[in-house]
Amino acid sequence: MQRVLSGIQPSGIPTIGNYLGAIRQWVALQDTHECLFCIVDLHAITSFQDPAKLRAQTLEMAATLLACGIDPARSALFAQSAVHAHVRLGWIFNCIARLGWLNRMTQFKDKAGKDREAASAGLYVYPNLMAADIAAYRATRVPVGDDQRQHLELANDICEKFNHDYGVDFFPRIEPLILGEAARVMSLRDGTRKMSKSDPSDQSRINLTDDADAIAQKIRRARTDPAPLPSEPAGLAERPEARNLVDIYAGMAGTDAAAVLAEHGGRGFGAFKDALAGLLVARLAPITAETTRLLADEAHLREVLAGGAAQARALADPIVAHVERLVGFLA
Ligand code: AMP
Ligand code: TRP
Repeated sequence: MQRVLSGIQPSGIPTIGNYLGAIRQWVALQDTHECLFCIVDLHAITSFQDPAKLRAQTLEMAATLLACGIDPARSALFAQSAVHAHVRLGWIFNCIARLGWLNRMTQFKDKAGKDREAASAGLYVYPNLMAADIAAYRATRVPVGDDQRQHLELANDICEKFNHDYGVDFFPRIEPLILGEAARVMSLRDGTRKMSKSDPSDQSRINLTDDADAIAQKIRRARTDPAPLPSEPAGLAERPEARNLVDIYAGMAGTDAAAVLAEHGGRGFGAFKDALAGLLVARLAPITAETTRLLADEAHLREVLAGGAAQARALADPIVAHVERLVGFLA
């Protein structure tokens, strides 16, 4: 069985972007793969996080992932900071990755913004730790949204350079698993920006915990253009907001844009938005209810995460110990 690893930051409530880009794949992969899913709190603090909030959001993320269908009987679900192998390998990878490689990372440029000098060093080496998350398990498949493609290419470069420098064939190639429809869900306010759980505007996203009223209101206010929906996907070119709503509909309905437009093409956005809001409410209501139920029992959530961390450690510790010997540590 191929080994899958993926991660998500506990930096807010997950959005339908996280769900469509990543989480729904994670749930499906459990049927066919050995799966590890980590809540990447070490990555979250590359931008300052209020400690109490970080703790609460880590538990919320665990509850949401379980509510979406991550099954702790089949998959290891854990907090990244609980498995020290990630940091140990992350340091070694800091010494493998070249500055020139990191300088090309678009996510760093986006997140650091104009004042790059003021970004944390952690934000800069973020992709090295992400590579270590995967390589610590020698995982070969990584389900992510489209925005992580560049980081996974870098992870492969790091693993290859490690193998080359130490004359081994130890780290396998990593294969990104990126879904076609809705791999990149855009902001509801601006069709050229990614929907993000850390966007200051709550109107820009649908959170997995939004209730029916909030969903209906956000979709009604979502930015669109005046033309009616086209009847074929080609008609969505140069219409990023329209494309985004159609992709969200397709992702949530489990079909593709062509099928959505065959049904809704030619209509105005009013009717389509009503249908989209209805679909979102129907899909998200059970997840929200289950998340609320799970959050009421913090002890249980902590137990699930502790169990997942123990499983993860059992896999990663021997791999990273071997790497440390390859590097020449007196391990
Ligand atoms: P993050 O929210 O940055 O921790 O991302 C967690 C996972 O969700 C990653 O696999 C991302 O690629 C994916 N993801 C985040 N935002 C989006 C989005 N707007 N559209 C599609 N996938 C996303
Ligand atoms: N960088 C990813 C994101 O922001 C999260 C992440 C951290 C990750 N480590 C990972 C994803 C390992 C896949 C595998 O979305």
